[in-house]
Amino acid sequence: MSTQPKGAIICKSRYGATRQYAEWLGAHLDLPIFDPDIDRPQLKEYNYLLIGSSVYMGKMLIKDWLLTHRGELNSKKLFFFVVCATPNTEKDKQRKIAKDNIPAELAEDRVIFFLPGRLIISRLSWKDRLFLRLGARLEKDPRKKAAMRHDMDGMDLRYLDPLIDAVKATQSTKNPLYAG
Ligand SMILES: Cc1cc2nc3c(=O)[nH]c(=O)nc-3n(C[C@H](O)[C@H](O)[C@H](O)COP(=O)(O)O)c2cc1C
Repeated sequence: MSTQPKGAIICKSRYGATRQYAEWLGAHLDLPIFDPDIDRPQLKEYNYLLIGSSVYMGKMLIKDWLLTHRGELNSKKLFFFVVCATPNTEKDKQRKIAKDNIPAELAEDRVIFFLPGRLIISRLSWKDRLFLRLGARLEKDPRKKAAMRHDMDGMDLRYLDPLIDAVKATQSTKNPLYAG
């Protein structure tokens, strides 16, 4: 008997931007959302996962979880959505974020989407505000330096269209042996 692949969203967000994208995706694709503390038996139930994370100082918040769970994740179809301030015009930097954070075996043949995030300086912890200030001081490009001193909100539901289309193609796959 053929069964439809079962999917879920796993996301790690600090100030809500990644979580907001996860909620939009969950509503559009009718998928449950979990924090990375989802337990292993529950993780096993899913054939495909949408894994979302923001980036701080080059590190994806979900990096350690990916490393710990790479054995289980390797057999699943994975879609990554990375929420950050590195725009699509800086493909090399995006590639570096992916390479430094997603274990090579999980990145192979997977789709990685970069989505513009949100940064509201008054909502940051003192520590993040300090890191941002230091980062701005070290930045050589005057345009980027100025950008790091202002709020930014690049979030838009429309950026999810390609990811939603890719996931819908997976949802319509009917295969008894489906494992990604
Ligand atoms: C202290 C700090 C460091 C950041 N470091 C990076 C970075 O290295 N690369 C990047 O692209 N974005 C960086 N960002 C931007 C965040 O990834 C972005 O604001 C994201 O939307 C936060 O999402 P969240 O609310 O889900 O955590 C940084 C933001 C802060 C406050």
